[in-house]
Amino acid sequence: MNIHELRADIDKIDNEMLALFQARMELSKKVAAYKIAHGSVILDAKRERQIIGKYDEDAYFKRFIQEIMEISRCIQTKIALNNNIVLIGMMGSGKTSVGRILSDLLDIECVDTDKAVEKAQKLSIPSIFSRYGEKGFRSLESAQIASAVAKKPPRVISTGGGVILNEKNMLLLRSNGLVFFLNRPIEAIQYDLENVFSKRKFRLKRPLLAKKNDLIRIYQERLPLYKKYADYEIKGNFRSIDAAQRILKELQLRGKL
Ligand code: S3P
Repeated sequence: MNIHELRADIDKIDNEMLALFQARMELSKKVAAYKIAHGSVILDAKRERQIIGKYDEDAYFKRFIQEIMEISRCIQTKIALNNNIVLIGMMGSGKTSVGRILSDLLDIECVDTDKAVEKAQKLSIPSIFSRYGEKGFRSLESAQIASAVAKKPPRVISTGGGVILNEKNMLLLRSNGLVFFLNRPIEAIQYDLENVFSKRKFRLKRPLLAKKNDLIRIYQERLPLYKKYADYEIKGNFRSIDAAQRILKELQLRGKL
């Protein structure tokens, strides 16, 4: 047998597996409908443990089945989810990257309100601040929030750090969204600001961080507001993928999404 024939056989098996995978996902959607009708949660950890336990002998089989179950859970979460996932937190807490990961995992749109403001104005945030001041920026931000909330959920809405300053923004976001506060330790954000992010770029993109102690001062002022509006807090110096997984797990453990 030559390599071309071997690859042709592999392709054939892949196609058969994909057809089976599709059939499996259709069944999984029916299970989602059943769970929704019965008010059950998406994540059935006991059943997952039982299934994965059968493959303890073979690490690759185990990885394969785990991946399939994870995809299945994402499909079910997307079906059950009738709220937006709203991310709030300080500048540099990872809202944009966590938002992107969640949007990929769940295959739903991600709205980044800062980017939406920039796109609508055809200006960068610093230019908006220097042209219209912080007040002007805040009203443009509120308009983008209202338009994101007006669309049919589920979406991921990744907000700017100051969104919590206006109660109306938060009432709107909470009207059809679950709010997750990404609470990375401020020292970690400060460290990134000094050592990891390009300092100049990070500050330039964030006009409120003109002076050295601005970040800590703003965090202290805002912390009670972030806590007040959060349905759930992700606390710690997490990697974006881990924060996204925790948010997913939290969603999968809620009967009403
Ligand atoms: C702001 C945070 C920025 C941006 C603007 C104001 C804030 O967004 O909205 O510079 O007040 O904290 P990020 O939190 O995405 O950096």
